[in-house]
Amino acid sequence: MAEQARIRSLSELDVARIIAIDERLTGVYRPEVWERRIVFYLRRDPDASRVAEVDGKVVGFMLSDIRGGEFGLEETSGWIERFGVDPDYQGRSIGRRLFESAVEHMKGQGATAVRTLVDQKDSDLASFLRAVGFQNSPLVALELKLDTPAARG
Ligand SMILES: CC(C)(COP(=O)(O)OP(=O)(O)OC[C@H]1O[C@@H](n2cnc3c(N)ncnc32)[C@H](O)[C@@H]1OP(=O)(O)O)[C@@H](O)C(=O)NCCC(=O)NCCS
Repeated sequence: MAEQARIRSLSELDVARIIAIDERLTGVYRPEVWERRIVFYLRRDPDASRVAEVDGKVVGFMLSDIRGGEFGLEETSGWIERFGVDPDYQGRSIGRRLFESAVEHMKGQGATAVRTLVDQKDSDLASFLRAVGFQNSPLVALELKLDTPAARG
């Protein structure tokens, strides 16, 4: 039987496993995207992002950081960006433990709220977020589509 997951801070050595987990979840192999993103999060605050290890293998990750004064919100808040658990390890409370560990760190840094954005199409992500305690926010996400070659695909 596999050992219990160990939760620890993100390290640059975790990039390859995060790329592999993302590929399993989305079917897309995108190393450059993850390398850029992980460098960004490590520079901001390596302890705000967490990974879960089972038998020495990274099986889940949660990228987050702490911000204050953004979007006119004066309070310090934690922001959860990307997260994922390897399909072979889902349903074992690993996502919940990653979240609780990130929140513990955020509280220690003075955060008084945790925020995230989720696409309405991603009902699984929204269900998970509600299960760990998120509720609808009074903040409204707005966007303006730009007619550029990249947007046209
Ligand atoms: C969402 C995700 C992180 C959950 O991880 P997990 O380890 O399986 O979740 P946990 O076992 O910790 O579940 C925690 C709670 O969320 C609930 N939950 C998790 N996934 C759920 C789902 N799809 N629908 C409803 N509830 C869900 C669980 O029932 C549990 O509730 P409980 O503690 O009250 O019983 C994982 O399923 C995942 O990675 N999904 C794909 C994410 C993705 O596509 N990311 C894009 C690439 S970055």
